[in-house]
Amino acid sequence: SISRLFSDVSSHSTPSFGIVFDIDGVVLRGDTPIGGSPQALRKLYHDSGPILIPTLTFLNDGALKIPYIFLTNGGGFRESNRASELSKLLGVKISPSQVVQGHSPFKQLVDRYENELVVAVGKGEPAAVMSEYGFKNVLSIDDYASCFDNIDPLAPYKKWTARLTCHDSTTKLVPPKINVHSQRVQAAFVLSDSVDWSRDIQVLCDIFRTGGLPGRNFGHQPQLYFAHDDLAYQAAFPAERLGLGAFRISLEAVFNRVHPHPLEYTTYGKPNPFVLKNAEILLQQLVQSLQHNAHVVSHASAGSHHFKTLYMIGDNPSVDIKGAQQAGHPWFSILTRTGVFKEKENHPQFPANLVVDTVEEAVDYILEKEC
Ligand code: G3P
Ligand code: MG
Repeated sequence: SISRLFSDVSSHSTPSFGIVFDIDGVVLRGDTPIGGSPQALRKLYHDSGPILIPTLTFLNDGALKIPYIFLTNGGGFRESNRASELSKLLGVKISPSQVVQGHSPFKQLVDRYENELVVAVGKGEPAAVMSEYGFKNVLSIDDYASCFDNIDPLAPYKKWTARLTCHDSTTKLVPPKINVHSQRVQAAFVLSDSVDWSRDIQVLCDIFRTGGLPGRNFGHQPQLYFAHDDLAYQAAFPAERLGLGAFRISLEAVFNRVHPHPLEYTTYGKPNPFVLKNAEILLQQLVQSLQHNAHVVSHASAGSHHFKTLYMIGDNPSVDIKGAQQAGHPWFSILTRTGVFKEKENHPQFPANLVVDTVEEAVDYILEKEC
């Protein structure tokens, strides 16, 4: 829990700054820590626990000294799962409240769709994520597509797909309360990269052109939400990889050719200014827990924490740096060279306040300046 994270911090050490870390291309490439990220994060905790070894058989158990969160456009897994995975990879104790993914704001839409049939798209466990947010009638696009015979004519050629059967009593893919042949899909949520673009583009076009009942006549387009719109991102391969933005462009291009009205959709994630605003609020809440736990804050002063500087450390100029720039004061952007950006000089269109080689260099700069 947050309170455990801050267990031995006193009011005197409550910092007037906070740090936001991008994940892909800054602290990880694929599943591999980069840029000295384990060492950099360790500097944000009080000394405790064993020396960090990045292959990580144990965690640094010290309490948090500097408020920080991860703000990634990536996702597909529950925040709690992502937090424990990051803890293992990076060797420090990370709380789910410190992990904000592209799709995290989808939970704010739960009132609108709580009992409606919605479809969740993307790698990982997209339906489990949405269920945890409170959506009661959510199906992954895998399970949804499995209910329509021959919806993907290429399925027999896809050697990786297991043959799935709708309403199968042994696997229980689709709960009996959901009948996909009579219940309209009210919205589709794309949480993370599509694993099977051809099937997903086909099925989403079916859903959108028919008003949520594939195989039927034209109908009003259900809502469509994307967790982010990154054209490319840095994974384990040396060159950047196509991201959710590329999938969105493809879906949109195809849909606009097969349907008289253009595709309507909403994208979340960085660089939307509300994402940075939300990050600031979460950091304030972290500091409040810190103070609350140290028994130094009165109710009157709760919520009043003011950051002089918030540092955004990212690798993608048009996403991370643009986001921080648009958010304005008190954001200070730091661009690393470990991901999408690899140039010597600052980015011409979205120049960062500071360019460094690695995340460890960024943290050293911040700590030297602030402490
Ligand atoms: O798919 C993830 C990617 O688009 C961005 O991740 O951590 O760099 O925001 P991140
Ligand atoms: Mg990144």
